[in-house]
Amino acid sequence: MQELDILKLELKKLNAEYAKIKDVPAEKRSEFGRELNARKSEILDRMRQAEEAALDVEIEPLDITAPCAPNEKIPDVYSVFQGSKHPLMTEFDRVIAIYQLMGFDVVESRQLDDEFHMFDSLNFPKEHPARDGYDTFRTEEGLIPPAHTSTMQHRVLKAYRDKLADGGEIAVVVPGRVYRNEDVDATHEHTFYQCEGVYVSRDCTMGQMLGILREFFEKYYEQKLNIRTQPGYFPFTEPSLEFMIEKPKSLGGKKGDFLEMLGCGMIHPNVLKMAGIDPEIYHGFAWGGGIDRLVMLRYGLKDIRYLESGNLNFLKEF
Ligand code: DAH
Repeated sequence: MQELDILKLELKKLNAEYAKIKDVPAEKRSEFGRELNARKSEILDRMRQAEEAALDVEIEPLDITAPCAPNEKIPDVYSVFQGSKHPLMTEFDRVIAIYQLMGFDVVESRQLDDEFHMFDSLNFPKEHPARDGYDTFRTEEGLIPPAHTSTMQHRVLKAYRDKLADGGEIAVVVPGRVYRNEDVDATHEHTFYQCEGVYVSRDCTMGQMLGILREFFEKYYEQKLNIRTQPGYFPFTEPSLEFMIEKPKSLGGKKGDFLEMLGCGMIHPNVLKMAGIDPEIYHGFAWGGGIDRLVMLRYGLKDIRYLESGNLNFLKEF
């Protein structure tokens, strides 16, 4: 019998004894009552302890997703490989965390967009050849899976512009998946990831932008880096730059080995104007670059195609 059941019986017996009080001589009655009460509280204490001990019993966790009867021992075959987070997603979280620590908000990009956000809102002139440079896919309805995270700039500027009127600034990063219809090889994928940055205030400068980017890359690669810029062309920034870092020695780089990491520049006045921000009062800078490239350098990956391959031998290395 369980301890708790024994105690319940004892309590029942004891309760029966209370009926005898009336037969006890008057001078002994209070002592008799006190003794019964003491025994009763002792039994109740032990019952409480027994109840708690019963709750402490370790119950084996039940995997309700396991394809077998719930209380059966799970065969070893199901515990062979538990799976893990994809390395790109782990790195994505790291990238976002660095920007968040610098005070940036995060807005997610989308997987389907339109001609206006892909081009018009970014100051691409109609029919301009620069539109072809983005190798966009199109759906039959004419929608566009975004070829860069810059498609979100217009939305971010509009959603945050009230902060400017309140004396604040816009500081947002936009991570997202992007798509390009181009020939696939070891350094080009049709599907990859980018992170965009947008900053607007009354008096921001290109120097601040370079400071933020340097800080980001040094945090990401956990070391001091040499950086370099060269002029670039993007319709949505003026001036536009390409931002490079010198490949660190610890990652197999030699002196003078500069790698282009992203495009950036001061936001074109037309882009601000289209989002309802007065370019006579406010200035901004923006940047955007591939996450895959960052990760490939960090882990010495030679072929970008591994990242989207779903190849378990590759994924198990992380
Ligand atoms: N969207 C550009 C690309 O994918 C990169 C870029 C350049 C983003 C300049 C920006 C920028 O925000 O200001 O090639």
